[in-house]
Amino acid sequence: MDIPSRTSVCIIGGGPSGLLLSQLLHKRGIDNIVLEKHSRDHVLSRIRAGVLEHGFTELMREAGVSERMDAEGEIHDGFFIAHDGRMDRVDLKRFSGQSVMVYGQTEVTRDLYDARDAMGGIVIHEAADVQPHDIATGSPWVTWRKGDEIQRIDCDFIVGADGFHGVSRKSIPKDVLREYEKVYPFGWLGVLSRTKPVNEELIYANHERGFALCSLRSQVLSRYYIQVPLTDSVEDWSDEAFWEELRKRLPEDVAARLETGPSIEKSVAPLRSFVAEPMRYGNLFLAGDSAHIVPPTGARGLNTAASDIQYLYHGLVDHYLKGDSTGLEDYSAKALARVWKTQRFSWWLTSLLHRFPDTTDYDRNLQRTELEYLFSSDAAQTVVAENYVGLPY
Ligand code: FAD
Ligand code: PHB
Repeated sequence: MDIPSRTSVCIIGGGPSGLLLSQLLHKRGIDNIVLEKHSRDHVLSRIRAGVLEHGFTELMREAGVSERMDAEGEIHDGFFIAHDGRMDRVDLKRFSGQSVMVYGQTEVTRDLYDARDAMGGIVIHEAADVQPHDIATGSPWVTWRKGDEIQRIDCDFIVGADGFHGVSRKSIPKDVLREYEKVYPFGWLGVLSRTKPVNEELIYANHERGFALCSLRSQVLSRYYIQVPLTDSVEDWSDEAFWEELRKRLPEDVAARLETGPSIEKSVAPLRSFVAEPMRYGNLFLAGDSAHIVPPTGARGLNTAASDIQYLYHGLVDHYLKGDSTGLEDYSAKALARVWKTQRFSWWLTSLLHRFPDTTDYDRNLQRTELEYLFSSDAAQTVVAENYVGLPY
């Protein structure tokens, strides 16, 4: 592959955020390259998000990458919360007028890679030691190492879409960057299995023994999670132990119909809330998990990454095609306003559904009362529904 010595936008990170922006810009004639630290197989082996909001699916359509998603993704009009021995349903369609799409992040990423290949997009894998330079100036550049060779590309803008552990956020001076963080005292143990999902719609379970989630990728592929202490690792959990614990946290009739099988992926994800401000420094823009993380409870992470990409994409298009840089100037403030709303919702749902190590009877009763109130009030269900399907961009 011929790598140019200059491009308009250099995107660091070939996860969903970076690939989506690359595809959208290329379609509007704005040249860019993507630098990804890992191999394509590695990126595609990470099992993460499963629920896409309306705005995300619209962006995939605009990027011309929606064919398989629209054919194979499942539309869900609601989800269940199991608590106190019963199951209550949040009717998303009724309370928000919208639905969500169940289609895995792995598939989204695969479709984006295929689309990048088809358009001849430049995605450089296994780019080591990626480093942004002169980000405060109008002529930033990026270096990386491939084998023994150091490569350099000059650009107008750098987009840091390199996730929470990436290099981009770390290149913003410490006296400029403000970081807000909340670490939760538990993680999620996730299992993917080739079994029929236990329920047509997702079930989020609040249980004395801890939170559980029944999700799915298709009618033959299930994704389940249980809350575990941070000290637990996958080695501590045999498949049998996982299924047994999951069953205990579900209502009896649901547990009775749970189909189990060998896990084809098992991983522990710690839960964290994190926001970095500002999301722009000079000509470096942060997008997605590089700037903010939410606990997965509200299914907001990937969806919030997509709203960043939408703002940034329009800002860059206006800059290059109309000579109007207002969108880029407003990017950080606009993105952060929405980011904090998704932080609020994810924190609220996490607090409502999990068992904290220091939970008292008082806290338990508050959770119970909050859940009872939720399902007795159309107003409260509207709040949950409009946040879950995604607030407007
Ligand atoms: P990432 O996916 O982290 O991609 C960043 C990329 O940058 C990676 O490929 C990485 O290899 C690369 N990179 C890192 N460092 C460098 C470097 N120095 N140089 C070059 N490249 C680098 N979100 C939802 O919306 N809905 C859900 O249902 C949901 N469920 C989730 C369940 C779990 C268990 C987890 C862990 C997350 C979930 N999320 C969910 C969150 C979602 O997965 C993330 O928000 C999403 O991956 C963010 O995409 P991103 O492209 O910004 O970052
Ligand atoms: C998933 O299917 O992986 C999933 C679904 C909903 C969530 C989190 C994860 O809130």
